[in-house]
Amino acid sequence: MNNIRKIADDVLYVGASDRRLALFENIYPIERGVSYNSYVVLDDKTVLLDTADHSVSREFLENVEAALSGRTLDYLVVNHMEPDHCSVIAEIVLRYPDVKIVGNAKTIQMIRQFYTFDVDSHAHIVKDGDTLTTGKHTFAFVFAPMVHWPEVMVTFDTSNGFLFSADAFGTFGALSGNLYADEVDFEGEWLDDARRYYINIVGKYGVQVMNTLKKAATLPIKMILPLHGPIWRENISWFISKYQTWASYQCEEKGALIVYSSIYGNTANAVDVLSSRIADKGIRNIHTYDASKTDVSVLVSECFRYSTIVFASPTYNAEIFPKMEMLLIELKAHAFQNRDVAVIENGSWALSAGKKMSELLSSMKDIRIISPVLSIKSSLKEEQLGEVDAMAAAIAESVNN
Ligand code: FEO
Repeated sequence: MNNIRKIADDVLYVGASDRRLALFENIYPIERGVSYNSYVVLDDKTVLLDTADHSVSREFLENVEAALSGRTLDYLVVNHMEPDHCSVIAEIVLRYPDVKIVGNAKTIQMIRQFYTFDVDSHAHIVKDGDTLTTGKHTFAFVFAPMVHWPEVMVTFDTSNGFLFSADAFGTFGALSGNLYADEVDFEGEWLDDARRYYINIVGKYGVQVMNTLKKAATLPIKMILPLHGPIWRENISWFISKYQTWASYQCEEKGALIVYSSIYGNTANAVDVLSSRIADKGIRNIHTYDASKTDVSVLVSECFRYSTIVFASPTYNAEIFPKMEMLLIELKAHAFQNRDVAVIENGSWALSAGKKMSELLSSMKDIRIISPVLSIKSSLKEEQLGEVDAMAAAIAESVNN
C-alpha cells in the first residue's frame, strides 16, 4: 500500500527506500541502503518534485497516486536528471499526459537523451532565478551546476521556506520511519555516510558547492528536503557548516589517519610501530585502515576527514600496490588537497613505490609531504626506529598545530 508522509498540510513525502541494492551507481557499497526522496505539493496546481529510481518505482507511483488523491498532476519539477531520480519520468508522462516538465535547457536536453517520448510538448523551460506560481506557492529555481551534474538546480518554495535541494545535503542510508534528521542520531549513525556520500559524489566540485552555499545563504530556509536521506528542519546551520568544511577542502578533524597495504604483514607491522610512537607523543585521534579490506570510498572519505595522513605501500610489479594506487588515483580524481602527508614504502626486490606515491601526491594541490619517505626492505629493523620516531614527531606536530 502507499506510504505517503505529511510534511506540511499541502506538502507530502512520496519517496521510498531501497535496501537490496549493493552498490550505489554500481560502485559505492551501501550497507545501510539508500532512500530516493520525492515530494508532492498540493496547490491550485499540483506539483511533483523529482521522480525516483526504477528499483522503488512501484511504491513511488502508488505514493504519487495516493498523494494526488484523484487529481491530475500539473507540474513535474526535475531538479536533477541522474537516473536515480529520473527513471520514472516516462511513466509519469504516460499516467498524467498533460503534465508540464519544469527544468532548465540542459535538463530538457538530457530528458531528450534518455527518453523517446515527445519531450518538447511537455517542456516548461526555466532560467536561473525564474519563478513558478501554482496558487499559494511560488517556486524559485536556483541553478546549482555540478552539484552534482551540470543541469542541477534547487527549488526554493518562497511560501514556506522549503528548499528542495536535489543531491545537496543528501546521504546514503535508507529511511526507517523517521523522516527528519532531528529524529535520528544523525551525528552518531548518519554522518559517516553523509560524508562518504558528499566526498565521493560531489567532492571534486568544491568550488561549485561553495557557490551554491553562497546562493543558499541568501534564502530564508526553514527546511531542506534533499533527494536522499533525512530532511533537515533543525540544526540546519550545523550541517551547512559540514558542507562548508568539505567543500573548502579543510580537514574536519585534527587527527592522524594511517592507510596501508601489506601483502604478508610486514608493512602492517611498520605502521603499527609508527602509530604507537604517535600515540606516545600524546596524539589520541589516530585511525588505521588496511586498503585491501576497506572500500576505497570509505578511505577517500576518511582522507578528507583528517588533517594528517600516512600512506604505506609495498612495491608490487615495480609499482605501488594496486589497492593503494587505486586510493591515490581516486583522491586525485576527487580533487583531494590541503593536507599534511607522509609516505612509507616497502620492497624486497627493489624500492620504487615511495617515489611513485610521492609523485602522485605531489601532483595534487597543497599536499605537503612532512617527512622523508621511510623505506623498508622486507621488514622494519631496530636501527630504523630513529626514522620512525622522526616521522611520528612530524605527524604529531602536524596534528597539534
Ligand atoms: Fe542522487 Fe546525482 O543523483
